[in-house]
Amino acid sequence: MSKRFPFSGIPSGWYMVGTSDELRPGTVLTRKYFGTELVLYRTEQGVFRATDPFCPHLGAHLGQGSVCGEELKCAFHGFTFDTDGKCTGTPYPGGRPPRKADLRLYPTREFNGMLLAFYDALGREPTWEVPDLDLQGSPLFRWNSFELNSHPQETSENSVDIGHFAVLHDFMDARASGELELDGPVLRSAYSVKRRLDFLGMPQRGVSAEFKVYVHGLGYSLVVASVGSMAQLRFLIMATPIHDSRIHLRVGATSSTFRVPGVTQLAQRIGLHFLTLEVSSDVPVWEAKRYESKPALAHGDGQIAAYRRWAEQFYPPADGADGKVMLPVAS
Ligand code: FES
Ligand SMILES: [Fe+2]
Repeated sequence: MSKRFPFSGIPSGWYMVGTSDELRPGTVLTRKYFGTELVLYRTEQGVFRATDPFCPHLGAHLGQGSVCGEELKCAFHGFTFDTDGKCTGTPYPGGRPPRKADLRLYPTREFNGMLLAFYDALGREPTWEVPDLDLQGSPLFRWNSFELNSHPQETSENSVDIGHFAVLHDFMDARASGELELDGPVLRSAYSVKRRLDFLGMPQRGVSAEFKVYVHGLGYSLVVASVGSMAQLRFLIMATPIHDSRIHLRVGATSSTFRVPGVTQLAQRIGLHFLTLEVSSDVPVWEAKRYESKPALAHGDGQIAAYRRWAEQFYPPADGADGKVMLPVAS
Protein backbone atom coordinates (compact mmCIF):
# COMPACT_ATOMS: atom_id res chain seq x y z
CA MET A 1 0.00 0.00 0.00
CA SER A 2 1.34 3.35 -1.00
CA LYS A 3 1.86 6.02 1.65
CA ARG A 4 0.66 8.78 -0.63
CA PHE A 5 -2.59 6.98 -1.45
CA PRO A 6 -3.78 5.00 1.56
CA PHE A 7 -6.64 3.35 -0.35
CA SER A 8 -7.38 -0.36 -0.31
CA GLY A 9 -5.76 -0.99 -3.67
CA ILE A 10 -7.53 -0.59 -6.99
CA PRO A 11 -11.23 0.29 -6.79
CA SER A 12 -13.84 -1.82 -8.57
CA GLY A 13 -15.15 -0.29 -11.73
CA TRP A 14 -15.21 0.09 -15.47
CA TYR A 15 -11.93 1.30 -16.90
CA MET A 16 -10.91 2.27 -20.39
CA VAL A 17 -8.27 -0.12 -21.70
CA GLY A 18 -8.00 1.18 -25.25
CA THR A 19 -9.79 2.78 -28.17
CA SER A 20 -11.73 0.66 -30.63
CA ASP A 21 -9.44 1.54 -33.50
CA GLU A 22 -6.34 0.34 -31.61
CA LEU A 23 -7.62 -3.22 -31.87
CA ARG A 24 -8.25 -4.34 -35.43
CA PRO A 25 -10.15 -7.57 -36.13
CA GLY A 26 -7.85 -10.59 -35.84
CA THR A 27 -5.29 -8.88 -33.58
CA VAL A 28 -3.94 -9.35 -30.04
CA LEU A 29 -2.59 -6.59 -27.78
CA THR A 30 -0.97 -6.63 -24.33
CA ARG A 31 -1.66 -3.75 -21.91
CA LYS A 32 -0.17 -3.18 -18.46
CA TYR A 33 -3.09 -2.34 -16.17
CA PHE A 34 -4.46 -3.31 -12.74
CA GLY A 35 -1.02 -4.25 -11.40
CA THR A 36 -0.79 -7.00 -14.01
CA GLU A 37 -1.11 -7.38 -17.75
CA LEU A 38 -4.25 -7.82 -19.80
CA VAL A 39 -4.37 -9.44 -23.17
CA LEU A 40 -6.91 -7.77 -25.44
CA TYR A 41 -8.00 -9.43 -28.63
CA ARG A 42 -10.61 -9.00 -31.30
CA THR A 43 -11.98 -11.90 -33.33
CA GLU A 44 -12.25 -11.79 -37.12
CA GLN A 45 -15.95 -10.93 -36.74
CA GLY A 46 -15.11 -8.07 -34.39
CA VAL A 47 -15.81 -9.41 -30.88
CA PHE A 48 -13.58 -7.71 -28.29
CA ARG A 49 -12.34 -9.69 -25.27
CA ALA A 50 -9.83 -9.09 -22.46
CA THR A 51 -8.20 -11.94 -20.57
CA ASP A 52 -5.65 -12.70 -17.89
CA PRO A 53 -2.33 -13.00 -19.68
CA PHE A 54 -1.27 -16.53 -18.77
CA CYS A 55 -2.54 -19.60 -20.55
CA PRO A 56 -4.27 -21.98 -18.10
CA HIS A 57 -2.47 -24.93 -19.72
CA LEU A 58 1.20 -24.31 -18.95
CA GLY A 59 1.36 -20.56 -18.48
CA ALA A 60 2.46 -19.20 -21.84
CA HIS A 61 1.78 -15.51 -22.38
CA LEU A 62 -1.35 -15.17 -24.48
CA GLY A 63 -0.10 -11.87 -25.85
CA GLN A 64 2.10 -14.08 -28.04
CA GLY A 65 -0.98 -15.94 -29.24
CA SER A 66 -3.06 -15.30 -32.32
CA VAL A 67 -6.67 -15.01 -33.37
CA CYS A 68 -8.00 -17.81 -35.56
CA GLY A 69 -11.50 -16.92 -36.71
CA GLU A 70 -13.51 -16.49 -33.51
CA GLU A 71 -10.92 -18.14 -31.26
CA LEU A 72 -7.73 -17.19 -29.45
CA LYS A 73 -4.91 -19.67 -30.00
CA CYS A 74 -2.02 -20.03 -27.58
CA ALA A 75 1.40 -19.91 -29.25
CA PHE A 76 2.95 -22.62 -27.03
CA HIS A 77 0.90 -25.82 -27.59
CA GLY A 78 -1.90 -24.45 -29.75
CA PHE A 79 -4.85 -24.78 -27.34
CA THR A 80 -7.79 -22.72 -28.56
CA PHE A 81 -10.35 -20.68 -26.60
CA ASP A 82 -13.76 -19.34 -27.60
CA THR A 83 -15.20 -15.93 -26.73
CA ASP A 84 -16.65 -17.34 -23.48
CA GLY A 85 -13.11 -18.34 -22.47
CA LYS A 86 -13.85 -22.06 -22.93
CA CYS A 87 -10.99 -24.21 -24.14
CA THR A 88 -12.33 -25.66 -27.40
CA GLY A 89 -9.48 -27.84 -28.55
CA THR A 90 -5.92 -29.07 -28.35
CA PRO A 91 -3.83 -30.20 -31.28
CA TYR A 92 -3.37 -33.66 -29.63
CA PRO A 93 -4.98 -36.49 -31.61
CA GLY A 94 -8.33 -37.43 -30.07
CA GLY A 95 -7.57 -35.31 -27.02
CA ARG A 96 -10.42 -33.57 -25.25
CA PRO A 97 -9.69 -30.13 -23.86
CA PRO A 98 -8.90 -30.32 -20.13
CA ARG A 99 -11.89 -29.22 -18.08
CA LYS A 100 -9.98 -26.70 -16.05
CA ALA A 101 -8.35 -25.01 -19.00
CA ASP A 102 -10.65 -22.00 -19.30
CA LEU A 103 -9.51 -18.41 -19.59
CA ARG A 104 -10.36 -15.85 -16.96
CA LEU A 105 -12.02 -13.16 -19.02
CA TYR A 106 -12.71 -9.69 -17.78
CA PRO A 107 -16.25 -8.36 -18.29
CA THR A 108 -15.90 -6.06 -21.30
CA ARG A 109 -17.95 -3.45 -23.15
CA GLU A 110 -17.33 -1.45 -26.27
CA PHE A 111 -19.10 1.90 -26.42
CA ASN A 112 -18.47 5.21 -28.18
CA GLY A 113 -15.14 4.06 -29.62
CA MET A 114 -13.84 2.90 -26.23
CA LEU A 115 -12.75 -0.52 -25.02
CA LEU A 116 -13.80 -0.94 -21.39
CA ALA A 117 -13.00 -3.69 -18.90
CA PHE A 118 -14.43 -4.20 -15.44
CA TYR A 119 -11.88 -4.67 -12.66
CA ASP A 120 -12.77 -6.09 -9.28
CA ALA A 121 -10.08 -7.25 -6.87
CA LEU A 122 -12.28 -10.18 -5.78
CA GLY A 123 -13.30 -11.11 -9.31
CA ARG A 124 -16.95 -10.20 -8.73
CA GLU A 125 -19.19 -9.52 -11.71
CA PRO A 126 -20.28 -5.93 -12.36
CA THR A 127 -23.57 -4.86 -10.81
CA TRP A 128 -23.69 -1.58 -12.71
CA GLU A 129 -22.90 -0.23 -16.15
CA VAL A 130 -21.42 2.86 -17.72
CA PRO A 131 -23.59 4.63 -20.32
CA ASP A 132 -23.53 3.99 -24.04
CA LEU A 133 -23.78 7.66 -25.02
CA ASP A 134 -26.03 8.74 -27.83
CA LEU A 135 -23.60 10.95 -29.73
CA GLN A 136 -26.39 12.27 -31.98
CA GLY A 137 -24.24 12.47 -35.06
CA SER A 138 -21.21 13.95 -33.27
CA PRO A 139 -17.85 12.48 -34.28
CA LEU A 140 -16.33 9.84 -32.05
CA PHE A 141 -14.16 11.21 -29.24
CA ARG A 142 -10.63 12.38 -30.08
CA TRP A 143 -8.11 11.52 -27.38
CA ASN A 144 -4.97 12.66 -25.66
CA SER A 145 -3.38 10.85 -22.75
CA PHE A 146 -1.11 11.22 -19.73
CA GLU A 147 0.68 8.72 -17.53
CA LEU A 148 1.28 9.80 -13.95
CA ASN A 149 1.71 8.77 -10.35
CA SER A 150 -1.78 9.13 -9.02
CA HIS A 151 -4.96 7.21 -8.28
CA PRO A 152 -8.46 7.32 -9.86
CA GLN A 153 -9.95 8.49 -6.57
CA GLU A 154 -7.64 11.51 -6.61
CA THR A 155 -8.28 12.51 -10.22
CA SER A 156 -12.07 12.06 -9.93
CA GLU A 157 -12.11 14.23 -6.81
CA ASN A 158 -11.54 17.14 -9.21
CA SER A 159 -15.19 17.06 -10.21
CA VAL A 160 -16.28 18.29 -6.77
CA ASP A 161 -13.21 20.39 -5.90
CA ILE A 162 -14.70 23.74 -6.83
CA GLY A 163 -12.01 25.69 -4.97
CA HIS A 164 -9.28 24.86 -7.48
CA PHE A 165 -11.23 25.99 -10.56
CA ALA A 166 -10.36 29.66 -10.15
CA VAL A 167 -6.82 29.24 -8.88
CA LEU A 168 -5.42 26.37 -10.89
CA HIS A 169 -7.65 26.60 -13.96
CA ASP A 170 -7.91 30.35 -14.21
CA PHE A 171 -11.71 30.40 -14.32
CA MET A 172 -13.04 33.93 -13.71
CA ASP A 173 -16.06 32.53 -11.95
CA ALA A 174 -17.22 29.06 -10.95
CA ARG A 175 -20.35 28.27 -8.98
CA ALA A 176 -22.23 25.10 -8.23
CA SER A 177 -25.47 25.35 -10.19
CA GLY A 178 -27.25 22.35 -8.76
CA GLU A 179 -27.24 19.92 -5.87
CA LEU A 180 -24.66 17.17 -5.74
CA GLU A 181 -26.53 13.93 -6.49
CA LEU A 182 -25.16 10.64 -5.27
CA ASP A 183 -27.05 7.82 -6.91
CA GLY A 184 -25.45 4.41 -6.33
CA PRO A 185 -22.29 4.30 -8.45
CA VAL A 186 -23.16 7.61 -10.18
CA LEU A 187 -22.27 11.09 -8.97
CA ARG A 188 -23.80 14.12 -10.66
CA SER A 189 -22.92 17.75 -10.18
CA ALA A 190 -23.27 20.96 -12.18
CA TYR A 191 -21.36 24.22 -12.41
CA SER A 192 -21.67 27.59 -14.08
CA VAL A 193 -18.25 28.80 -15.10
CA LYS A 194 -16.61 31.65 -16.93
CA ARG A 195 -13.28 30.89 -18.56
CA ARG A 196 -10.75 33.35 -19.92
CA LEU A 197 -9.97 32.75 -23.58
CA ASP A 198 -6.22 33.32 -23.35
CA PHE A 199 -5.69 29.74 -24.51
CA LEU A 200 -7.24 30.89 -27.82
CA GLY A 201 -5.07 34.04 -27.89
CA MET A 202 -7.85 36.33 -26.52
CA PRO A 203 -6.68 37.31 -23.02
CA GLN A 204 -9.28 40.02 -22.42
CA ARG A 205 -12.25 37.86 -23.35
CA GLY A 206 -14.19 35.31 -21.36
CA VAL A 207 -16.83 32.77 -22.24
CA SER A 208 -19.59 31.45 -19.98
CA ALA A 209 -20.41 27.78 -19.91
CA GLU A 210 -22.56 25.32 -18.00
CA PHE A 211 -20.81 22.11 -16.98
CA LYS A 212 -22.77 19.02 -16.10
CA VAL A 213 -20.60 16.34 -14.55
CA TYR A 214 -21.44 12.62 -14.45
CA VAL A 215 -19.00 10.35 -12.65
CA HIS A 216 -19.63 6.62 -13.09
CA GLY A 217 -17.35 4.86 -10.64
CA LEU A 218 -13.83 6.21 -10.29
CA GLY A 219 -12.62 5.45 -13.83
CA TYR A 220 -15.22 7.24 -15.94
CA SER A 221 -16.08 10.95 -15.78
CA LEU A 222 -18.22 12.68 -18.36
CA VAL A 223 -18.49 16.47 -18.54
CA VAL A 224 -21.13 18.00 -20.81
CA ALA A 225 -20.21 21.63 -21.44
CA SER A 226 -22.80 23.93 -22.96
CA VAL A 227 -21.14 27.06 -24.29
CA GLY A 228 -23.94 29.63 -24.59
CA SER A 229 -26.24 28.53 -27.38
CA MET A 230 -23.23 27.96 -29.62
CA ALA A 231 -22.07 24.43 -28.94
CA GLN A 232 -22.23 21.49 -26.67
CA LEU A 233 -18.91 19.85 -25.99
CA ARG A 234 -18.63 16.47 -24.35
CA PHE A 235 -15.49 15.56 -22.47
CA LEU A 236 -14.45 12.21 -21.06
CA ILE A 237 -11.78 11.90 -18.38
CA MET A 238 -10.88 8.24 -18.04
CA ALA A 239 -8.42 7.14 -15.34
CA THR A 240 -7.15 3.57 -15.64
CA PRO A 241 -4.89 2.15 -12.91
CA ILE A 242 -1.56 0.82 -14.13
CA HIS A 243 -1.03 -0.26 -10.54
CA ASP A 244 -2.24 1.07 -7.20
CA SER A 245 -0.33 4.34 -7.43
CA ARG A 246 0.06 5.01 -11.16
CA ILE A 247 -2.58 5.75 -13.77
CA HIS A 248 -3.05 6.12 -17.50
CA LEU A 249 -5.34 9.12 -17.90
CA ARG A 250 -7.09 9.53 -21.23
CA VAL A 251 -8.97 12.70 -22.03
CA GLY A 252 -11.42 12.80 -24.92
CA ALA A 253 -13.61 15.41 -26.55
CA THR A 254 -16.38 15.64 -29.08
CA SER A 255 -18.64 18.46 -30.21
CA SER A 256 -22.25 18.86 -31.23
CA THR A 257 -22.60 19.15 -34.99
CA PHE A 258 -22.53 22.33 -37.05
CA ARG A 259 -23.94 22.64 -40.54
CA VAL A 260 -20.92 24.39 -42.01
CA PRO A 261 -18.43 21.76 -43.19
CA GLY A 262 -15.36 21.40 -41.00
CA VAL A 263 -16.70 23.48 -38.06
CA THR A 264 -17.69 20.43 -35.99
CA GLN A 265 -14.15 19.04 -36.26
CA LEU A 266 -12.70 22.46 -35.45
CA ALA A 267 -14.91 22.76 -32.34
CA GLN A 268 -13.87 19.25 -31.33
CA ARG A 269 -10.18 20.09 -31.72
CA ILE A 270 -10.58 23.32 -29.73
CA GLY A 271 -12.47 21.34 -27.08
CA LEU A 272 -9.73 18.74 -26.84
CA HIS A 273 -7.07 21.46 -26.73
CA PHE A 274 -8.92 23.17 -23.87
CA LEU A 275 -9.41 19.92 -21.95
CA THR A 276 -5.78 18.86 -22.43
CA LEU A 277 -4.62 22.26 -21.24
CA GLU A 278 -6.80 22.11 -18.13
CA VAL A 279 -5.71 18.59 -17.25
CA SER A 280 -2.08 19.57 -17.90
CA SER A 281 -2.48 22.07 -15.05
CA ASP A 282 -3.77 19.35 -12.72
CA VAL A 283 -1.13 16.74 -13.59
CA PRO A 284 1.86 18.22 -11.70
CA VAL A 285 -0.35 18.77 -8.64
CA TRP A 286 -1.65 15.19 -8.76
CA GLU A 287 1.87 13.85 -9.29
CA ALA A 288 3.31 15.57 -6.24
CA LYS A 289 0.41 15.64 -3.79
CA ARG A 290 -0.51 13.10 -1.16
CA TYR A 291 -3.99 12.09 -0.11
CA GLU A 292 -4.94 14.00 3.03
CA SER A 293 -7.06 11.63 5.07
CA LYS A 294 -8.07 14.39 7.44
CA PRO A 295 -8.10 17.48 5.24
CA ALA A 296 -8.47 20.92 6.79
CA LEU A 297 -11.59 21.69 4.77
CA ALA A 298 -12.78 25.27 4.50
CA HIS A 299 -16.10 26.88 3.70
CA GLY A 300 -16.26 27.07 -0.09
CA ASP A 301 -14.39 23.84 -0.73
CA GLY A 302 -17.32 22.04 -2.28
CA GLN A 303 -18.50 18.54 -1.55
CA ILE A 304 -15.21 16.79 -0.95
CA ALA A 305 -16.30 14.92 2.19
CA ALA A 306 -19.50 13.69 0.47
CA TYR A 307 -17.45 12.56 -2.54
CA ARG A 308 -15.08 10.59 -0.33
CA ARG A 309 -17.91 8.81 1.44
CA TRP A 310 -19.47 7.97 -1.94
CA ALA A 311 -16.12 6.60 -3.18
CA GLU A 312 -15.94 4.04 -0.37
CA GLN A 313 -18.38 1.76 -2.18
CA PHE A 314 -15.81 0.91 -4.86
CA TYR A 315 -13.35 -0.81 -2.54
CA PRO A 316 -13.51 -4.51 -1.74
CA PRO A 317 -14.79 -5.51 1.69
CA ALA A 318 -12.11 -5.47 4.36
CA ASP A 319 -11.24 -8.89 5.84
CA GLY A 320 -13.98 -10.08 8.12
CA ALA A 321 -16.11 -6.98 7.60
CA ASP A 322 -19.63 -7.08 6.25
CA GLY A 323 -18.98 -5.51 2.90
CA LYS A 324 -17.66 -2.26 4.28
CA VAL A 325 -14.12 -1.06 3.97
CA MET A 326 -12.68 1.59 6.20
CA LEU A 327 -11.37 4.46 4.16
CA PRO A 328 -10.00 7.61 5.65
CA VAL A 329 -12.64 10.30 5.04
CA ALA A 330 -13.15 13.81 6.22
CA SER A 331 -15.56 14.26 9.05
S1 FES B 1 0.70 -23.06 -22.46
FE1 FES B 1 -0.91 -22.45 -23.74
S2 FES B 1 -1.34 -24.21 -24.89
FE2 FES B 1 0.18 -24.85 -23.55
FE1 LIG C 1 -8.67 20.27 -12.17
